[in-house]
Amino acid sequence: MWKHKTSDSIIYIDLERKLTMKPTIFADNSSTPFLSGIFDTIFYDPPHGWGEGHPFYKYPDAESFKKKWQGYGEIPRYYGWDKYKNQQALLAHLWRAQKEFFRILKNDGVLWLKWNVQNVSLHRVLMIFEDWTAMMQLSIKAPSQTAGKSQTYWLCLTKEKRETTQTALS
Ligand SMILES: C[S@@+](CC[C@H](N)C(=O)[O-])C[C@H]1O[C@@H](n2cnc3c(N)ncnc32)[C@H](O)[C@@H]1O
Repeated sequence: MWKHKTSDSIIYIDLERKLTMKPTIFADNSSTPFLSGIFDTIFYDPPHGWGEGHPFYKYPDAESFKKKWQGYGEIPRYYGWDKYKNQQALLAHLWRAQKEFFRILKNDGVLWLKWNVQNVSLHRVLMIFEDWTAMMQLSIKAPSQTAGKSQTYWLCLTKEKRETTQTALS
């Protein structure tokens, strides 16, 4: 997703140590070392699939994977499919992560969530983000932003309450 990871004003988090482009810190994003309410923006691109049964694992090394699945990424673990054994484990992680993001995000901050509909619908995922309000939903069509033919979304989520509020300018 990122073209580079060199910005001084962005902290990149990942727990995978073999990434080509290293994060700023290696950490579990569901339990971060940060104080509460300090971030303006969080971008969250979680794994969208799970398990070693994914077609990728039929290929013995990154080189053969790269040839077969052009555009899927540089190394096997890039998409994080190996981190969660099944759907339940992935959804449980999403729940813990969004709780942590709610804690470390400022009250007027935004969480950008990327979701690629491989096996879990966007509707199901948004049920997990129960304390958030979707301010905007973008459907991504660019081939480089989608895995195969599955649809990718970017959602802009806020911590606002779901009631509609209107402010009159006088
Ligand atoms: C779909 S990839 C996102 C790649 C990222 N958008 C990028 O361009 O570098 C999902 C990433 O989530 C990471 N990941 C999975 N579980 C995690 C966790 N609990 N804490 C931190 N990172 C995690 C995986 O290692 C993988 O790199």
